Amino acid sequence: MNPKIEFVKKIFSRAKISYSNPPKHLEGNGFAPANIALCKYWGKRNSHLNLPEASSLSISLGNLGAKTRIRCLSAPASEDKVFLNGTEITSAHSEFKNRIIEFLDLFRGRVSDGVTDRVTDGVSDKTIYYQVETEVNIPVAAGLASSAAGFAALVKALDALYGWEFNLRELSMLARLGSGSACRSLWHGFVEWSKGLGSDGIDSHGIPLEFNWPEIRIGILIVDSTQKAISSRVAMEKTRTTSAFFESWKKKSEEDLLSLKGALRDRDFVRLGEITESNALSLHALMLTASPAIMYANEATVSLWHKLWEARKSGLNVYFTEDAGPNLKLLFLKQDIERILSIFPNCQIIAPFGD
Ligand code: PMV
Repeated sequence: MNPKIEFVKKIFSRAKISYSNPPKHLEGNGFAPANIALCKYWGKRNSHLNLPEASSLSISLGNLGAKTRIRCLSAPASEDKVFLNGTEITSAHSEFKNRIIEFLDLFRGRVSDGVTDRVTDGVSDKTIYYQVETEVNIPVAAGLASSAAGFAALVKALDALYGWEFNLRELSMLARLGSGSACRSLWHGFVEWSKGLGSDGIDSHGIPLEFNWPEIRIGILIVDSTQKAISSRVAMEKTRTTSAFFESWKKKSEEDLLSLKGALRDRDFVRLGEITESNALSLHALMLTASPAIMYANEATVSLWHKLWEARKSGLNVYFTEDAGPNLKLLFLKQDIERILSIFPNCQIIAPFGD
């Protein structure tokens, strides 16, 4: 059996929820925030179950994220319909669409999985097809964690459609199968993804951290919002398998996670910023040591790094992080909003804990 389906069935049976029950409602809705990792997830120990080599830590972006509505299509539907921001994706080559379909395959009845005769809308069919409508208010696939928010919102919408009532930890593990970092998007605020120790993936999920820090601001600096050239899925596997420094990255990453939690506990913003930036730079340096080298930063990104370092030299407490794309996310405090805007006028400012 497909290891993902085997895992999904295990989650259902542990939660004593029936995997084969038909949808309870006509539609289901869910919202999930995007999240930005301060300590990155990069490298899987199991690529079927998206089990990470190391734990990671993120901050969710409040009301920036994905809102998803799902409903079952009645017969004679023979495929899923996927909409993004109001437009149907019809291309069979769309990575966005194909990843959603692959994820939905884990939940619809299929004869080969021994699940038959689910009933929707009075129509008995062996396979359910869905219409999924997602609205995102962040650029898709530009390293702004839109897929994390997307899969977390989808799993919440499926939960509402079927009336499963999984708890957030279980939803986090299901979302993880769509995109690893999605397992952190089930909560607001700071979230740790505990890598887990087992090989079955049952202990690898998000854990909300009780640190509230209302003054924290995230600034989004868009350098390029087009689709990234190499997906994080492919890039992390290349890095893990070809870089001579992967083991050192893992070690540093575990140390960074502990230091970040210490900085959160002590409300030490400078330490939080320094570790966040160092973790991101180490990741991008690591990618350069992959074969062939991977580089997401472009010239505009690098000149922003320099601009930010100059600003910091002049006493402004601002730090950056960067994911699988050329865009930057700044970390600073509310008191510095005006100075930030004078240096980075195009910065989109987010209050992760609300204003
Ligand atoms: O969850 P994925 O496969 O989209 O990978 C996310 C990778 C990073 O965004 C670079 C790091 C992270 O922890 O979010």
